[in-house]
Amino acid sequence: TMTFDHDLKASVRTIPDYPKPGIMFRDITTLLADARAFRRAVDELVHPWAGNKIDKVAGMEARGFILGGAVAHQLSAGFVPIRKKGKLPHTTVRIAYSLEYGIDEMEMHVDAVAPGERVILVDDLIATGGTAEGAVKLLRQIGANVMAACFIIDLPELGGAAKLRAMDVPVRTLMTFE
Ligand code: PRP
Ligand code: HPA
Repeated sequence: TMTFDHDLKASVRTIPDYPKPGIMFRDITTLLADARAFRRAVDELVHPWAGNKIDKVAGMEARGFILGGAVAHQLSAGFVPIRKKGKLPHTTVRIAYSLEYGIDEMEMHVDAVAPGERVILVDDLIATGGTAEGAVKLLRQIGANVMAACFIIDLPELGGAAKLRAMDVPVRTLMTFE
């Protein structure tokens, strides 16, 4: 409803020129700190999957851990961390990726998902889609069935959601910022 969208969107704070000049940074710490907003966001991310078995939720460091952990708990699913390089102790798969304000490498444990398991990807925001694209590639490399990618915020002008849909990944977002 309008009320829901308004309340949730109003809980996101915008910081101009962070982390670089020209970036309007959509800061979800204010949403996370608002108990009702946090619960609503998690409930909305979970809602489409009620009664639809999900084996694992994969979350991208760092904000995808906060949301993905809560979503996994509510779905009674496992949680898989996708981390910045060098943080995971066991054998990993690794991929380089680019995002709105830089480049990096991400890793996942090679045995984090069994072949054929049904996985949803969760993060706070999709911008260029570079981060989510890398995560989908890692998950598919180890045989995961990526059911969808779910975000609180879409920045549609940056094309990330379209990029994921072109990879046959359904995308769900709760709000947009132009
Ligand atoms: C942000 C955000 C997403 C990603 C989106 O994370 O939380 O993971 O960027 O950008 P993209 O769609 O252009 O790839 P960031 O890399 O800043 O990491 P952090 O959560 O560790 O701060
Ligand atoms: N906010 C948070 N994370 C981001 C953003 C943003 O505006 N753009 C790319 N990653």
